[in-house]
Amino acid sequence: MKQKVSVGELKPGMHVNLPHPWRAHPFLRNSFTIRAEKHIKKLIDHGIEYVIIDDQKGAPYIPVLEEMKEPEKESTPDLQTLASENLLEVVDDKKMLPPMRARAIHQLTADVMKGLLESPTGEKIARFKKTICNVIDLILSDEVVSRHLIRITSHDYNTFIHSVNVGILGTALAKALLQKQDKHDMHALGAGFFLHDIGKINIDEAIINKQGKLTEEEMDMIREHPTGGFKLLNDTKQITMESRLIVLEHHERDDGKGYPLKLRGEEIHIYGRICSVADVFDALASKRPYKSKLTPFYALKLMKEEMLDHFHKDVFEKFVLMFRRD
Ligand code: C2E
Ligand code: SIN
Ligand code: SIN
Ligand code: FE
Repeated sequence: MKQKVSVGELKPGMHVNLPHPWRAHPFLRNSFTIRAEKHIKKLIDHGIEYVIIDDQKGAPYIPVLEEMKEPEKESTPDLQTLASENLLEVVDDKKMLPPMRARAIHQLTADVMKGLLESPTGEKIARFKKTICNVIDLILSDEVVSRHLIRITSHDYNTFIHSVNVGILGTALAKALLQKQDKHDMHALGAGFFLHDIGKINIDEAIINKQGKLTEEEMDMIREHPTGGFKLLNDTKQITMESRLIVLEHHERDDGKGYPLKLRGEEIHIYGRICSVADVFDALASKRPYKSKLTPFYALKLMKEEMLDHFHKDVFEKFVLMFRRD
């Protein structure tokens, strides 16, 4: 018998059929027997929510009765709550060595980000902002941890990892660039960098995870994510107007050839221009389904040699200087 089963209920030994086109998932075949827990994890990591199992070819599905399940509310706090509690501990833990602390903060922030991107309700965004405020304060106040955070290259492709990287890089760049920091709400600003790609949650995953070049129609869908994200944040009323501009303007280019509004030069808010540099750097330095990663050095070199007319020159220079060793 064939049966639809949610990924969380899979067990090794079951034979699954993936309900997605072959190009939309990272497995070699569309149907296979699960040999180990890590295959289940891989399904979860790729955002696959359910599969069809075939008990002629593998272990049967035995549903867990409702009353046998753990009561969810009391005993298993959701991942976002759990991660944000650990995160606060790690942020404050001065006994932990800076590289380890930076790594842990990065990982826990990514967990929080993942929970948020799964369903960004107003309430979750509010909680996210509070959590992220602590990380932002740490970047602003602790030079050593901040330098380690900038250098973490957790560069697998995931919108949530990318979001965290751009959040960290954007906040650090804003700190380096904006002389009179008290004129800027650094918390609101940082939240905008972390949320810059939130509009991607409305784009078909098959497009985001496509292995090859996008068609012009697919690219048109992608071009909607700044406006989509801006609207989403407008609706939840959680983020200041200036932070929302980061989301709206992060794909504008200095030469006027960006999107969605084709703004040029000074028409683009400085916050959007900061985000654009951090975003392109992290995209180049990361693996994507459609390309391998460059080293940070070559990413900066490519930006300088081939993309300089996308950016505000001073913003780009300051960014390069953040990678100086001293
Ligand atoms: P992303 O992967 O986070 O990339 C963000 C931006 O970094 C891109 O904006 C682009 O300005 C820059 N960038 C990324 N990779 C490269 C590269 O190999 N060379 C150069 N010169 N610049 C690069 P863009 O082009 O507007 O793309 C926005 C988003 O659209 C990307 O975000 C990605 O999610 C998606 N995308 C763009 N092109 C492709 C593609 O060929 N295949 C797939 N599957 N997705 C794509
Ligand atoms: C905060 O600074 O506490 C919240 C950030 C914001 O205003 O969006
Ligand atoms: C991309 O592959 O992300 C597009 C690169 C570009 O158009 O510069
Ligand atoms: Fe984007």
